[in-house]
Amino acid sequence: MFKRIRFLTAGESHGKGLACILEGIPSGLNLKEDDINSELKRRQGGYGRGSRMKIEQDRVEILSGVRWGKTLGSPILLLLYNKDWVNWQEGMSVNETLSGSIPLVTRPRPGHADLSGAVKYNVKDIRNILERSSARETAMRVAGGAVAKVFLKNFGISVYSMVISIGSVRIDDAFIYDPYTNFEEIHKRAENSPVRCPDEKTSDEMVRLIDTAISKGDTLGGVFSVIVTGVGFGLGSHIQWDLRLDARLAYTVMSIQAIKSVEIGKGMEMSRAFGSDVMDEIHYLDEKGFYRNTNFLGGIEGGISNAMPIVLKAGMKPIPTLKKPLQSVDIRTKETVKATYERSDACAVPAASVIGEAMVSLTILDAFLEKFGGDSMDETERNYQGFLNQVSLF
Ligand SMILES: Cc1cc2nc3c(=O)[nH]c(=O)nc-3n(C[C@H](O)[C@H](O)[C@H](O)COP(=O)(O)O)c2cc1C
Repeated sequence: MFKRIRFLTAGESHGKGLACILEGIPSGLNLKEDDINSELKRRQGGYGRGSRMKIEQDRVEILSGVRWGKTLGSPILLLLYNKDWVNWQEGMSVNETLSGSIPLVTRPRPGHADLSGAVKYNVKDIRNILERSSARETAMRVAGGAVAKVFLKNFGISVYSMVISIGSVRIDDAFIYDPYTNFEEIHKRAENSPVRCPDEKTSDEMVRLIDTAISKGDTLGGVFSVIVTGVGFGLGSHIQWDLRLDARLAYTVMSIQAIKSVEIGKGMEMSRAFGSDVMDEIHYLDEKGFYRNTNFLGGIEGGISNAMPIVLKAGMKPIPTLKKPLQSVDIRTKETVKATYERSDACAVPAASVIGEAMVSLTILDAFLEKFGGDSMDETERNYQGFLNQVSLF
């Protein structure tokens, strides 16, 4: 999917650990393990998470690609050990099982890869599927995304996020289409909320709704927004379908577990409006250059960034593992049973918003390097400045 970088994750939820390889970062970028660990901590937070996140305190080790605090231009390998592994040494051993006493998982959970995965990979123990389909994998996306964020910061690009709704409780999000909104300030407020919602009153209501869901053994989904500021003209392209920046963002954000919709700008809402209500009219001032007073289209026209903030929204379905279990069928006996319940979150929209930031950061990094290239940060910077000069003379 990515054009210029390469990014792969590996690891099972209760295996020894998780890893990712990120290739394509130019040499000379200042990078510390703490830059990554602070992002991992953000992913672990949020009201409504299960007890697993209390066991893990995710910290990566940089195994390669960095020397004396600077990237080498070679693949960056990040490693994260699972603390919970001590409880799973036999159940998730890479060697042949010795005791044979580990119970198989045979009751697929609706809404998970459990049944389709078991049929496809021809396995009778659903654990072989759920260990990898679990969103534990997203820790490595956040780790890779943290490196992308550090890179983008060097070029004045910032990636923010906030939770817009949980279940039926939502904030009025009109401000995200206003290019004059101070997104840094809004993001700070979101960071101080247990559900990453910038409005205190709505945040309290969201917490209460999560409590109601928990008390009923039920779960919730919601919507989050990711905003990118500092992107100029020219990332992505209209010339080919797979180069369009909006399509690339939709792909990578939709790839997050449980994300079922991605909208750019006003998205679905635009389909119900008149054209005159949702196009962002173009203005020009000598001192300002081209500018817009609205950003309903979310900073992308014809698949190309238009120098407005990039605004995206993603919808997450409710967590599929329910304490009040749903009906299922045992894959061994074919009897009607209750689906497996394994320690689970009741709501993970706040965490998903942090993962959304990571996937958006990697996608913008990829489009940025596609446009400006460079094997070293110096070279990328030179190429970038050359383009800025060209734009200023346009
Ligand atoms: C941050 C995050 C945490 C999640 N936690 C859980 C969980 O605790 N229990 C669960 O059943 N699903 C959880 N999910 C959702 C499942 O991973 C996801 O619904 C499942 O893998 C099926 O994929 P799909 O929904 O994309 O079809 C989580 C998703 C995210 C993004």
